[in-house]
Amino acid sequence: TQAPVNVTVTGAAGQIGYALLFRIASGQLLGPDTPVKLRLLEIPQAVKAAEGTALELEDGAFPLLAGIDIFDDAKQAFAGANVALLVGARPRTKGMERADLLEANGGIFKPQGEAINAGAADDIRVLVVGNPANTNALIAQSHAPDVPAERFTAMTRLDHNRAVAQLAKKLNAPVGEITKLTIWGNHSASQYPDIFHAEVGGRNAAEAVNDEKWLAEEFIPRVAKRGAEIIEARGASSAASAANAAIDHIHDWVLGTPEGDWTSMAVPSDGSYGVPEGLISSFPVRCRDGKYEIVQGLEINEFSRTRIDASVAELAEEREAVKKLGLI
Ligand code: NAI
Repeated sequence: TQAPVNVTVTGAAGQIGYALLFRIASGQLLGPDTPVKLRLLEIPQAVKAAEGTALELEDGAFPLLAGIDIFDDAKQAFAGANVALLVGARPRTKGMERADLLEANGGIFKPQGEAINAGAADDIRVLVVGNPANTNALIAQSHAPDVPAERFTAMTRLDHNRAVAQLAKKLNAPVGEITKLTIWGNHSASQYPDIFHAEVGGRNAAEAVNDEKWLAEEFIPRVAKRGAEIIEARGASSAASAANAAIDHIHDWVLGTPEGDWTSMAVPSDGSYGVPEGLISSFPVRCRDGKYEIVQGLEINEFSRTRIDASVAELAEEREAVKKLGLI
């Protein structure tokens, strides 16, 4: 076995944290041969709860769990981190304007970016889960000038997985037969789940569906508003499915996407598909040898173009807003 990998998790005492940490400890993040050391970051008021979770992790007797440290200081928590899962964020509360939300999150993601810059390992990979995820990732990235920009990513894998599941249901196919689906844009209601390049058992999924009304009026809004549907049903926001998606995102980034398939990750744009450079936007990506690359050369039809552009415009607006606030 190899040396333990340091995995820093912020918001460790939250509901996603509770679902996430046990799966990391069990080896589902980095595979069955890689021991992990958990470095948990919480705000001081939640450190005690994180300690409670650490007791339970101990009780899991996970052979791959090489240690747990708990911090309320970002510099310490990110020291030596190889993987950073930025889950803790400031939620929007009643009456909160967007600028207030962005500013509150700037207060979290700026110092965390600085801490990553100061002390993370050279191979650091960052996934931002905490919302607004894409723009929080942009804030953290802009305060980590010594870290290659492409190491900062945001999570649209939950949207991707939701879309795969809904499409499989519609086509009465096993989820494992759905490939090459893409989430474009922002992790928000403006996101665009694209099935035009997707396949079901090797056959084009859009042709198999052959129902543009379903696509426009059921599938897309269902995926985009699934978070609200979960809150309505469960009385709490998605947690286990979000943790599952975070595991999938890092797992595939490090260990690769399956041959003949791709996944969706929000990554810094290189200008592909007309997305302004530097925006952290969701794309189809393939991962191999620990690196991802944006899938190139897909034809974008009119239906898709309008929707991609709308979501990307929202990201550009968020970037302008955080620029104005001096957060990037
Ligand atoms: P939660 O409220 O249960 O937990 C958040 C935790 O973060 C709390 O324990 C809090 O003390 C901690 N925290 C706050 N500020 C922190 C800081 N500066 N440093 C370290 N920890 C800090 O929330 P939950 O349900 O775990 O969700 C976390 C975030 O993930 C939310 O922003 C939510 O909107 C987002 N989310 C994103 C999804 C995506 O697909 N990208 C899906 C689902 C949730």
